[in-house]
Amino acid sequence: MNRRTHILICLISLYFLLSSISVLRASNSNSVSFLLTCGSTVGGIDSEGRNWESDRRYLVSSGDSISARARYQDPSLPSSVPYMSARIITSESTYKFSVPAKQRLSLRLYFYPSQYSSFNPRDGYFSVVAGKITLLKNFSASITAQALTQSYILKEFSLTPSRTGFLNLTFTPSTKHNGSFAFINGIEIVPMPDLFHPAALVGFSDQIVAVDSSTLQTMYRLNVGGQYIPPSNDSGLSRTWYDDSPYVYAAAFGVTIKTEENDVIEYPYDMPNYVAPVDVYNTARSMGPYSKVNQNYNLTWVFEVDGNFMYILRLHFCELKHTKINQRVFDIYINNQTAQLAADVIAWSSSKDSPMFKDFAMYVSERPGEDEQLWLALHPSISQKPEVYDAILNGLEIFKLNDTIGNLAGPNPVPSPLPLAAESKEEMKSFEASKSKKNVHIIAGTAGGAAAISLLAAIFIAIYQRKRRILESDQSGTTSRWLPLYGISYTNKSTNSGANSSPVSSLASNLCRHFALGEIKQGTKNFEETHVIGVGGFGKVYKGVVDGGTNVAIKRASPSSEQGVNEFRTEIEMLSKLRHRHLVSLIGFCQENNEMILVYDYMSHGTLREHLYQCETHLSWKQRLEICIGAARGLHYLHTGAKYTIIHRDVKTTNILVDENWVAKVSDFGLSKTGSNNQTHISTLVKGSFGYLDPEYFRRQQLTDKSDVYSFGVVLFEVLCAHPALSPSLPKEEVSLADWALHCQKNGTLEDIIDPTLKGTITPECLKKFSETAEKCLSDHGIDRPSMGDVLWNLEYGLQLQEKPNASRSKVEDNKPAKTFLAVTPTTSIKSCLGGMGTSSDDPDGIIFSQIHKQQGR
Ligand SMILES: *[C@@H]1O[C@H](CO)[C@@H](O)[C@H](O)[C@H]1NC(C)=O
Ligand SMILES: *[C@@H]1O[C@H](CO)[C@@H](O)[C@H](O)[C@H]1NC(C)=O
Ligand SMILES: *[C@@H]1O[C@H](CO)[C@@H](O)[C@H](O)[C@H]1NC(C)=O
Ligand SMILES: *[C@@H]1O[C@H](CO)[C@@H](O)[C@H](O)[C@H]1NC(C)=O
Ligand SMILES: *[C@@H]1O[C@H](CO)[C@@H](O)[C@H](O)[C@H]1NC(C)=O
Ligand SMILES: *[C@@H]1O[C@H](CO)[C@@H](O)[C@H](O)[C@H]1NC(C)=O
Ligand SMILES: *[C@@H]1O[C@H](CO)[C@@H](O)[C@H](O)[C@H]1NC(C)=O
Repeated sequence: MNRRTHILICLISLYFLLSSISVLRASNSNSVSFLLTCGSTVGGIDSEGRNWESDRRYLVSSGDSISARARYQDPSLPSSVPYMSARIITSESTYKFSVPAKQRLSLRLYFYPSQYSSFNPRDGYFSVVAGKITLLKNFSASITAQALTQSYILKEFSLTPSRTGFLNLTFTPSTKHNGSFAFINGIEIVPMPDLFHPAALVGFSDQIVAVDSSTLQTMYRLNVGGQYIPPSNDSGLSRTWYDDSPYVYAAAFGVTIKTEENDVIEYPYDMPNYVAPVDVYNTARSMGPYSKVNQNYNLTWVFEVDGNFMYILRLHFCELKHTKINQRVFDIYINNQTAQLAADVIAWSSSKDSPMFKDFAMYVSERPGEDEQLWLALHPSISQKPEVYDAILNGLEIFKLNDTIGNLAGPNPVPSPLPLAAESKEEMKSFEASKSKKNVHIIAGTAGGAAAISLLAAIFIAIYQRKRRILESDQSGTTSRWLPLYGISYTNKSTNSGANSSPVSSLASNLCRHFALGEIKQGTKNFEETHVIGVGGFGKVYKGVVDGGTNVAIKRASPSSEQGVNEFRTEIEMLSKLRHRHLVSLIGFCQENNEMILVYDYMSHGTLREHLYQCETHLSWKQRLEICIGAARGLHYLHTGAKYTIIHRDVKTTNILVDENWVAKVSDFGLSKTGSNNQTHISTLVKGSFGYLDPEYFRRQQLTDKSDVYSFGVVLFEVLCAHPALSPSLPKEEVSLADWALHCQKNGTLEDIIDPTLKGTITPECLKKFSETAEKCLSDHGIDRPSMGDVLWNLEYGLQLQEKPNASRSKVEDNKPAKTFLAVTPTTSIKSCLGGMGTSSDDPDGIIFSQIHKQQGR
């Protein structure tokens, strides 16, 4: 069979596939698709079992190129094929492919900027032209990867049908840079069904953007309210779908919802399921259960893009809860302009669990000196008087269209400079508690790029330096108590006394207590500086006394805080629903004279961290176990106990607080995104602290409850070893506690690194159980990690093994001192070590680093 007939047959079969509603399988077009591992002579199979062939026979032009292998295989590469081999192109070279003449082509380019023989990736600037469209220009894979802090880059395009039946792909090294070269690791070309339709131009009621004549670049592809979907789980087009949470703006990020049990997503007859897989439709983000709250905020996502381009936003919808028209009706805004009023998914799709999508076009012009962004906001359509004030979104894709001169390329992103501001101690303080604020300093950079394809978190060498500096200051005793920043649960401690004395806010009347400003002022001696126990992005945190003797922590929004009233209320409303013995409690709030104040339980024993490193009296093993068990309970509740899964995202020893009875409480959970920072960057970040961050999250943006489990595993080893999660000054293999402890555990030398003060007090059975549990938490893949419930069970079992050791030799003195310790009031040494009233934060890890994450890619 010659190639032409072959193609014809494939086209015909493709036609049938397209006209039917059956799954368009990845194999639909195997015979006309290309999967090339460039620079390899033999090809190979990747981790998903796909067979890649050598690129050699497609290289037609006479340009100079060589095959090379990368010297170093980055651990984050999903597989060695196609990344480890590259074609290095030193003068203009063209690939030529025979392609079906009437179909759009999906083109994916894979780049792994690494040292190839004598070629330094930093010298490589080049352009890529497909047919007549410039896809990339002056492109530096190295700079882009650095800016996105990921090791490899994937660029995805959808090319218009090639009328000639051939596709030329030309790589040209830049002439503007000395020694420049082009390189490419993998090329994937797959004919694709035409998924694009004319879209209404937002802001111009009568204008339609014809998409079919344009080449598109995928900028973002998100499974809203859901999880990462790998190419192998896509519905036939090998797309990757990412979690949307890094892009949600401000504190009010709604809730995620799922298909109801036994419900099945059914595609309507006229919608093929290759539009998006079922997994996209069976999860969604909605505004939450409180109509009053929802009225007052917009569910908003923010994306960085390149200026002077037209964008298509494809919103995927599928109603998962309601069945009738006018139950959930909302307005859609794009860049502050109305894209759609009174969106009613049921009215559109006519039934529950029936997927659909809507496209909107938006032109983004260049904003000199600023980042170009796309804002998507949903708000209940109050004028329609729907049954519930809520909105829903299941999936989102953002595509960039070529401009009128056939260009799709934007500038290279600018890698984040280090937060120079942080050098000064003064500024460092302002960094501390506010993750968001901190990140704003760290991230600076221009807009642009395709994050769907390229996302990740950042590490800089200099972090280590800063880290060290802060650890030093930490030891100098200026550490303050604790900062329950955003996200604290509610205890209905004194509802009665408060509710009568002050005007009760409509929203929180029966949720938590309303304090009068006078009470707060009295309790803090009019916000006297000596009462400050911490500073956050939100403002200062004071120790105070209310009700004639109850100690509380009072978080006061500084006048400069940008957290709006709506966010403030939303936060109260959402957080006060969460109550648990092992979560720090929100007692009440005060909103008066433009003051926004939150009142929390005071945790007199500070953070777990300070007990591990700074106190003269060391916690006994049993106390440590009990604290771990308490924290595990709190996290387990967050994951499963509330109506929706809440992922803490920043589990570490500074976020585990201890009250006067040594009961562990998790603080700062869940909803810690706030509006209290420079708005341009708020959504570009991934939260989490260096040293505790789940490598899987880091690698591919998959935020799950197992990310918390990973971080908790680090906490467990930290508790066992009294060894910080990161120790930059130690030899390389010991820098990361997670790696070091796993290494020791594997070699059977874990006992050597146990906190010396615990030596001889842990029963071998308990130690075995404990370290095995911690080890499992640190599994590389989330799927191999236990659930928080399992961890809890194992720790409790460990405690039993400690208290009732079967082996006689392990009858140890642990219990006794622990009990006396617990019975007495804290010794003076504890008091002094806890009594720090410094104004700096207790949170060296957080200061140093919340993982940064730049959402754009290119
Ligand atoms: C593709 O490239 C080949 C060789 O460089 C050239 O002969 C041919 O005209 C090009 N085709 C198109 C459609 O650009
Ligand atoms: C490129 O190299 C040449 C000779 O090595 C040198 O004269 C020239 O200044 C260099 N140009 C740039 C932009 O570095
Ligand atoms: C992919 O699909 C398979 C089979 O449906 C499922 O078991 C697996 O969990 C999915 N993987 C992810 C990451 O969603
Ligand atoms: C939309 O409005 C908000 C303030 O309401 C502003 O911060 C943001 O920059 C606007 N977005 C765009 C793209 O203009
Ligand atoms: C929601 O966004 C729209 C468009 O930017 C704006 O007009 C409106 O005021 C916002 N509503 C709230 C409650 O923030
Ligand atoms: C993209 O380029 C094609 C020509 O190659 C042109 O017809 C089309 O209008 C361009 N798209 C846009 C949005 O300008
Ligand atoms: C190419 O990109 C680099 C890095 O972004 C930039 O410094 C340089 O000015 C660009 N050159 C051209 C000709 O655009």
